[in-house]
Amino acid sequence: MPAQEKVTNPSATIRVVVLLIGVALAVVLFALARSSGYPTQAQSVKQSAQQTVIGRDCRQCHALIVQTFPLDAHGKSAKFLKDSRGAKCEACHGNSDKHAETSTKTVSKGDVGNPAKWSSADANQSCLQCHSMDRSHFNWKGGKHDRSDMSCLSCHSVHHTKLIQRMSVNLTDKTDTEVAEILNTRIPERLLIAPSIEETCLGCHVDQRKALFQRSTHFFRTENWTDRRQVLPGQPAGMKVTCTSCHDPHGGEGRKMLQASNTNQLCYQCHADKRGPFLWEHAPVRENCLTCHTPHGSNNVNLLTTRTHQLCQECHMHMLWRHQTVAGFDIFTFNKGCVNCHALVHGSNHPSGKALTR
Ligand code: HEC
Ligand code: HEC
Ligand code: HEC
Ligand code: HEC
Ligand code: HEC
Ligand code: HEC
Ligand code: HEC
Ligand code: HEC
Ligand code: HEC
Ligand code: HEC
Repeated sequence: MPAQEKVTNPSATIRVVVLLIGVALAVVLFALARSSGYPTQAQSVKQSAQQTVIGRDCRQCHALIVQTFPLDAHGKSAKFLKDSRGAKCEACHGNSDKHAETSTKTVSKGDVGNPAKWSSADANQSCLQCHSMDRSHFNWKGGKHDRSDMSCLSCHSVHHTKLIQRMSVNLTDKTDTEVAEILNTRIPERLLIAPSIEETCLGCHVDQRKALFQRSTHFFRTENWTDRRQVLPGQPAGMKVTCTSCHDPHGGEGRKMLQASNTNQLCYQCHADKRGPFLWEHAPVRENCLTCHTPHGSNNVNLLTTRTHQLCQECHMHMLWRHQTVAGFDIFTFNKGCVNCHALVHGSNHPSGKALTR
């Protein structure tokens, strides 16, 4: 009577059921432990082989992005940083597993999260989760760009998809190494949206563009200067002195997002000879270089705000009689005007250089 036996011995059945549940639980836990815990040796070898392609699961549908990713800082970091700073696809595209499983080649399912479609605040937050630790980004919050509701993506592009499209090169039939060779020299540094730093900034700051073409400018082209778009390996790209030589687009220490705490400290960084100390100082020079100079470009020589003699006369209207009697030429306009004689307008160390003439 098997039925009878079953009824009379319920504890045996329960024991079997408990045992089965126990075994099942152990198997599940073991599997979980294997997938999240420390890998066994055999497994870590297998995984590192897989990791050589970041975004392997995405490749069949986003080939170009996966191919170009290892060329940039994020792709490299994902390979070598094992902690949360390693920027794998899912670090920026939260729900990517679900999306990869459910999408087809033409239909995107499972909201994967695209920072380009988020509000500036959310997009910035997604970048700052890692980059707020960078030394240079402490000032981002509250900087003029932050307050203007801009995002990191106003200047940076993580994948350069638009830029690559514009290059009109066909990359689909190339191997990874060929793709790397073609793009390495053409993708802007620092993941910028434009070929050079100045082009990135001038896209919005159109007023500053004219400085590139003025008589006197900080944006001078050096001998082998070349546009990033035609750059060859090993050649310098962009300008020697550029916007970020003086500004920190992520915030900056001083007003106007300057790299230094004030204008003069900024100028001294490169024009150290103007720092002094001088025996005979010229008051306005100590005060602010921009009293007489423009920072970007000018149609007057030496980045001056106006013609020299007019500039000096803004403050020096009453001069010694001897200026009137200099014979033979007009001291105001002849050659360099006032600086013919007052050559040391920034200060003099000569014992009798009081009048800044020597
Ligand atoms: C089976 C195909 C497929 C796979 C695999 C796939 N995707 Fe997609 N994905 C799509 C399609 C289709 C779109 C929509 C394309 C479009 O609009 O241009 C898309 C769009 C996206 C977008 C943009 C979403 C948006 O809202 O703009 C992101 C980001 C993305 N995928 C990330 C990933 C990542 C990361 C992976 C790998 C973990 C991945 N995808 C794997 C098919 C796929
Ligand atoms: C550091 C953050 C970050 C990482 C890591 C990252 N992405 Fe993106 N992804 C972005 C941002 C930001 C955008 C918006 C467009 C842009 O900035 O280039 C984007 C856009 C996309 C898009 C939409 C492209 C389009 O043309 O609209 C796809 C697809 C995508 N990413 C796939 C991937 C894949 C696959 C990986 C891993 C190989 C990956 N992403 C890694 C930040 C990231
Ligand atoms: C998961 C962490 C992580 C996230 C999220 C992240 N990054 Fe990065 N990023 C890194 C690491 C790591 C590096 C390489 C080391 C470094 O330069 O600090 C890097 C480098 C960079 C660089 C320098 C590139 C170069 O060539 O030197 C830029 C620019 C950048 N990230 C922009 C962004 C933007 C924009 C976002 C948001 C869309 C973002 N990052 C999100 C980790 C991250
Ligand atoms: C107004 C344009 C602009 C914005 C907005 C911007 N960046 Fe940058 N970023 C730049 C430029 C230009 C460089 C290159 C600086 C250089 O090489 O002198 C740069 C460089 C970087 C670097 C490389 C390391 C460094 O400090 O030089 C990282 C990382 C970075 N940016 C992250 C971010 C993040 C994160 C955000 C958003 C919070 C952001 N950027 C917003 C223009 C911008
Ligand atoms: C997407 C557009 C955009 C880009 C690109 C951009 N800026 Fe700006 N920038 C702004 C806006 C908007 C303001 C605020 C203007 C205002 O309030 O008058 C601003 C303000 C500034 C200011 C003045 C800050 C102040 O305190 O008044 C400086 C300096 C500046 N940007 C430098 C840069 C540099 C350097 C770059 C390139 C690395 C750059 N910007 C790229 C939009 C941009
Ligand atoms: C040699 C240093 C230097 C360089 C290079 C430089 N700037 Fe400036 N910029 C300054 C200084 C100094 C100021 C502050 C002017 C003031 O106080 O009125 C300034 C002011 C600005 C302002 C604010 C203008 C205003 O009227 O409020 C913007 C915008 C700006 N710069 C953009 C740029 C851009 C874009 C570039 C690159 C094409 C650039 N700067 C390169 C030094 C520089
Ligand atoms: C990043 C370095 C750097 C900074 C910062 C800098 N300069 Fe310059 N400046 C240069 C270089 C390089 C030249 C070109 C020198 C040459 O041609 O011999 C130059 C040239 C000049 C000239 C002469 C221009 C001409 O037409 O010959 C003046 C004036 C000048 N700078 C003033 C300033 C002032 C004012 C500041 C501060 C707002 C400043 N510079 C900040 C690098 C810098
Ligand atoms: C009182 C007006 C005035 C002030 C203020 C001033 N400069 Fe000048 N600067 C001039 C004049 C005028 C010239 C042209 C000199 C000549 O032609 O010999 C000049 C030329 C220059 C030059 C190019 C020639 C050279 O001597 O190297 C540089 C660089 C320069 N100034 C930097 C600065 C810096 C940096 C400051 C602030 C510390 C500053 N200037 C403040 C009037 C001024
Ligand atoms: C923003 C006003 C300002 C401008 C512009 C200016 N100066 Fe001066 N300058 C002063 C002041 C203030 C003094 C100090 C006067 C004093 O100590 O009595 C001075 C002193 C001098 C002195 C020494 C006078 C003395 O008796 O010790 C000379 C020379 C001089 N400036 C020449 C020039 C020349 C040349 C220029 C044009 C390149 C110029 N200044 C532009 C304000 C200016
Ligand atoms: C031909 C040479 C020469 C030229 C050009 C010249 N100066 Fe002078 N300047 C002098 C001499 C010399 C002194 C007196 C020096 C002394 O007393 O030791 C002097 C003194 C000064 C002083 C201080 C004494 C006073 O008058 O208050 C100022 C300010 C001055 N010049 C401004 C200017 C200005 C502004 C210009 C241009 C409009 C100019 N100078 C052009 C030679 C010149």
